[in-house]
Amino acid sequence: MEMVNIKIEGIPYQVEAGLTILEAAKKCGYNIPSLCAFNHGECNQGSCRVCLVEATGARGLVASCVYPVNEGMEITISSPKAVAARRSSVELILSNHNRNCQECDKNEYCELLDVARRVGAREDMFPGEKTPTTYDELTPTIVRDTSKCILCGRCVERCKNAHGIGILGFENRGFNAIVGPAENRSFINSPCIMCGQCINVCPTGALMEKSEIMKVDEAMAQGKYVVVQTAPAVRAALGESFGMPVGTPVTGKMVAALRRLGFKKVFDTDFAADLTIMEEGTELLNRIKNGGVLPMITSCSPGWVNYAEYYYGDQLDHLSSCKSPHEMFGAILKTYYAEKHGIDPKDMFVVSVMPCSCKKFEKVRPQLSADVNGMADVDAVITTRELARMIKRSGINFTRLPDEDYDRDIVHDATGAGHIFGVTGGVMEAAIRTVYYVLEGKELEGINYMPARGLEGIKEGEVTLQGKTIKIAVASGMKNAKVLLDQIREGKSPYTFIEIMGCPGGCINGGGQPYVRDTFMPNEDIDIYDKYLQLRSKALYSEDERAVHRQSHNNPDIQTLYKEYLGEPNSHKAHELLHTTYKERVRFD
Ligand code: FES
Repeated sequence: MEMVNIKIEGIPYQVEAGLTILEAAKKCGYNIPSLCAFNHGECNQGSCRVCLVEATGARGLVASCVYPVNEGMEITISSPKAVAARRSSVELILSNHNRNCQECDKNEYCELLDVARRVGAREDMFPGEKTPTTYDELTPTIVRDTSKCILCGRCVERCKNAHGIGILGFENRGFNAIVGPAENRSFINSPCIMCGQCINVCPTGALMEKSEIMKVDEAMAQGKYVVVQTAPAVRAALGESFGMPVGTPVTGKMVAALRRLGFKKVFDTDFAADLTIMEEGTELLNRIKNGGVLPMITSCSPGWVNYAEYYYGDQLDHLSSCKSPHEMFGAILKTYYAEKHGIDPKDMFVVSVMPCSCKKFEKVRPQLSADVNGMADVDAVITTRELARMIKRSGINFTRLPDEDYDRDIVHDATGAGHIFGVTGGVMEAAIRTVYYVLEGKELEGINYMPARGLEGIKEGEVTLQGKTIKIAVASGMKNAKVLLDQIREGKSPYTFIEIMGCPGGCINGGGQPYVRDTFMPNEDIDIYDKYLQLRSKALYSEDERAVHRQSHNNPDIQTLYKEYLGEPNSHKAHELLHTTYKERVRFD
C-alpha cells in the first residue's frame, strides 16, 4: 500500500495515498465537521462547504472531503480563517432550514444540529426568503419535507448505489433547488420501492419514516387486544439506540421493554420465519418435482417485491407465493391463535416491530389479509427506531432491564434458522437446512451453509440433493438483484433457487434500523458502516448458535400448528392464510 507523509496541525503522520484530507484526518483522530460527505466516498458532492481546511499546495480553503492528500502536505484545521469559514457555511445552511427541532423526530440524531453546535453557528445570520417547500406524506412509508433538506445529495447517491434506480435527484437550480422524485412528484407517483435507505442516510429530518406510534397508542387506549411481534434484525441493533456496543443482541431486554410498554403478548417473528421455510421449502420442492417455474425467488423483502413489480413485471412467476414472515404471523394470530384463545380477531391489534420501513407499505397491500372481509393481517408497523423512541419516552431504563423470554404460548418457539433471516443469505441457509432434511432424510452436516454467508452483494453456491447438484444464488440491493434478474430474462440463469433482499446486507441494514452516525465521527476505521453490518450479522449468527433447535422443521410449535390447524405445508388452508399474489405496477397503488 502506497503511503504518503503529511502533517496535520504541525504533527507528522503517514497515511495511505489516495485518501481525501477528511478521511486521512479521521484516521489520525481529527474530527473535521462535515455534512454532505458520507461513508468513505459514497457521497462526495463537496456541496455543503462545511469541511473547509487549509492545505499547502492549494489556493485558499479546500473542501477536505474531496481534496486528496499528497506527499508533504501540511493541513491546518484550526486557523481562524478555516474556523470562520466553516461556521459561515453552516449558518448559510441554517438560514434556509426549518428549525422546528423540538418537533422533529430526527432531533436526537440530527447531524446538522450536531455540526451547528460544534462550529458555534449563530442564529439568523442570513435572514431572508426561504425556498418554497414540498411536504409529501402520501405513501404509508416515507415522509419528505424539503424545508429540512440541506441538498447534501446523500439520498440521491444511496438510491443510485444501493439499487441503481435513482428515484431521487436534484430538481431546479440555485435558490429553487430541491431533492426529490422526478418533477418533484410525490413518492406515490414514482416507482420508488420504499426501502427507506434514503432515510437511513439523510442527515436531517428531510426524509423520515411515517410514524405509526400514535396508532399503537390509540389501539391501547381503546382497550384492544394489542400484541406485538419482533423481527430478527431488530434485536441485533436496538441496543445501539441506548449506547450499547454495536452487535449486542438484546432480545431479552427488548421483550422486557415491550411488556412494560403495555403489549398484552410479545411474540417472536422468527416463529413465522420457520413457518415461511416450511411453506417456501415445500413450494421449491414442488416446483422442482413438477416442472414449475425456476429459479424460484424468495419473497420476504417488500422492497424487493416492489422492485420486481415495477421493473420485472414479466418475471413475477419466479417469486415464491409465500407472504413474508410477519404477515404470516399476523394471519396465524388472527385465526389459529384467536380461535384457540376465544378472542374476536376484530378486537385484536397486531403490531410488528420491523427493521424495515417498507413493511409499513407491505401491510396495506390488499392481497395481505387473513380473511375475505379484508381484515389486515398486521395493523401497525413500527421500525426499530420508533421502538427506541417509544422506550425512551416511557422513561424505561433499557440497559437495566432484566432479560425476559417471549410469551410462552402456542406460537412461542423459534429456531436458529428463523434468527438468521435478518441477514443476507439467512433465508437461503435456513431453506437449505430444511430442504436437505426433507430430501435426504438426515440433517445437513455441520448445519451451517457457508456459501450463503458474508456481506457480498452477490453470492453463489451449490448443494447436492438426492445425487443432483443444484446452484443457488443470494443477492442484496437491487443493483445486484438486477444482474440475476437479467440472466433470468435472457434465459441464461444457472440457478434453481435465489434469495433476494431489498437492502444491501439484508434486514440488519433495513430502512428502519438505528442510524449509523459513527460514520461521521472520528474513527480510525473509515469503513465503519461495513463494520456495523458485520457486527449486527454476527449478533444473529450467535443467536443461531445458541438456539435449542436450529432447523425450522424441528420447531415444536410449528409441528403442532400443522398437526392441529394447517394440515401440511402448502395445504389448501396454508395457501389461504400464508400465500399471496403479485401484480405488475407502474406506480404505487
Ligand atoms: Fe465536504 Fe460537504 S463539502 S462535507
